[in-house]
Amino acid sequence: MKNENNHLKELLLNRRVVRNYLDTNKEYPNLSDIPKLTIKIPTAGFSRGIEIVSVENKENIKKLAIYANEESYLKKGYGKWLSNSKAIFLILINEQAYHERYKELDKQNQTSSSNWSVPYWYVDAGAAMMNCMLLVEETGLKSGFLGSHNMQIQKIKSLLVIPEDIEILGFVTAGVEGDSTNLKKENLNKKKLLHKEKYEK
Ligand SMILES: Cc1cc2nc3c(=O)[nH]c(=O)nc-3n(C[C@H](O)[C@H](O)[C@H](O)COP(=O)(O)O)c2cc1C
Repeated sequence: MKNENNHLKELLLNRRVVRNYLDTNKEYPNLSDIPKLTIKIPTAGFSRGIEIVSVENKENIKKLAIYANEESYLKKGYGKWLSNSKAIFLILINEQAYHERYKELDKQNQTSSSNWSVPYWYVDAGAAMMNCMLLVEETGLKSGFLGSHNMQIQKIKSLLVIPEDIEILGFVTAGVEGDSTNLKKENLNKKKLLHKEKYEK
């Protein structure tokens, strides 16, 4: 940390998704505070429907890598990623917690949570994901994120005893970066995403 006042700025500027970790036995930082700080997020209606399973057990990490089809990343030319992680944090969504909260008396006049145009459980899960990645970054390890869309969900749930009605957003990974083979992002600044005062194409 170079400057206390710019700490968050530096974390944000330096963070990028790293998909290439070293297999090293070197001591790594203590990660035990990460789960509770990851869910230090505002949740819609204080529903508190975002949960974490943190996995540091090596055997389980290897199994998660298989169930998350790490092979497909190796084939794309990346180095080992998931299986060399020091930890994998699963971001979990308990949608039911939102429905239950919004049935309570003080919320009954609001749009039913079943009709939300933007389901807040995904908003909150994204916030937790970002907390988690920045917390990993702050330890000096590098973070990655893998969405759950290409995973063997049932096997993962059965390994970690995750109930059927809990959804997995994905894995936040923590590891020691290997050779930087991250693909260069072309045209990064060509897309207009920032609008000042009014929306402009
Ligand atoms: C919701 C979400 C899902 C993602 N899923 C994957 C994924 O399945 N595999 C992957 O390699 N990266 C995944 N990523 C990472 C993005 O590809 C990554 O954010 C993008 O490459 C920009 O990376 P940067 O943070 O290094 O700039 C995902 C990111 C988000 C936010």
